[in-house]
Amino acid sequence: MSRERIVSANHQPEDTAGEPTGPTIRPKTLDDYIGQSQLQTRLRIAMTAAKSRQEPTEHLLLHGPPGLGKTTIAHIVAEEMGTKAYVTSGPALTKGADLVGTLTRMQPGDILFIDEIHRLPAAVEEYVYPAMEDFKIDFTLDAGMHARVVTYRLQPFTLIGATTRAGLLTAALRSRFGIAHRLDFYEPSELEQILARASEVLNLNPPDPAALTLIASRSRGTPRVALRLLRRVRDFAQVHQAQCITTELADEALRLEGVDEQGLDDLDRAYLKVIRDVYDGGPAGLEAIAATLGEDSGTLEDVVEPYLLQIGLLARTRQGRQLTSGGQTSLPLLDA
Ligand code: ADE
Repeated sequence: MSRERIVSANHQPEDTAGEPTGPTIRPKTLDDYIGQSQLQTRLRIAMTAAKSRQEPTEHLLLHGPPGLGKTTIAHIVAEEMGTKAYVTSGPALTKGADLVGTLTRMQPGDILFIDEIHRLPAAVEEYVYPAMEDFKIDFTLDAGMHARVVTYRLQPFTLIGATTRAGLLTAALRSRFGIAHRLDFYEPSELEQILARASEVLNLNPPDPAALTLIASRSRGTPRVALRLLRRVRDFAQVHQAQCITTELADEALRLEGVDEQGLDDLDRAYLKVIRDVYDGGPAGLEAIAATLGEDSGTLEDVVEPYLLQIGLLARTRQGRQLTSGGQTSLPLLDA
């Protein structure tokens, strides 16, 4: 079953549709970037040091739940280093040769961003090792008796890998990144700042700050969700011919979208209810819960569970998933 979720952290086309062609919502420089302060500090140091050595920044592995800005960071590193970012993803690369065109076109210091790098096929991964370590690739010309290996030297570049599942990366690949950083969920105050900045970029009449606080508190710590909710509230305000976004308006718009006070939507509530009603509060295995819901277990693990774990409604135990006492007490809310 595939459901459309307004609170899904996965990228959806509407997230970037209709943005003005001038300034985009996505921050271009670290100075414009809000949150992830430890990562910002690490990047500033790494980039300053690399620049002074006239080398590319070290290879960077970003992991953590979707929607927290991994792609944005790749573009920022390119912008700050004055280079270009080439964007691809693990599943898009099926054989080593798929990377040759890009790798050989890249200029010194350019960025190769590979999203969902845990889904890189083994054959491509082996191709990537010498590229990362020695800036060279080996490719085989011809086959059988006439096969020969030609080594091609590459310009020094930075690989930025992003994954929601660091645990699925091979140790060999993981060890080739100089910097590995886990992105955390954002604080509500950071999301408020992001929403205020986005309101300016989108040319909205300044919203009531309390309305931004409300939207931020329902955004699951995730900028992509916050910005999507802001767009829906903006539409609602426009249709109701409201001059600016107020708390009442934001609340009404989000209720209409099925997003509750904690930012939970129908799928989150269905997930929690299955553990409560079918598995007696747990512990229950992920696959069993997924089967009951008719959902893909990977989707549940990547996009539903991280936030429920973060806000303390769910616990992962050795025996399976279990509602916490917080999860139990918020159940009346689920039935509302
Ligand atoms: N827009 C989306 N994510 C952002 C961030 N972290 N900082 C500023 N603007 C953003």
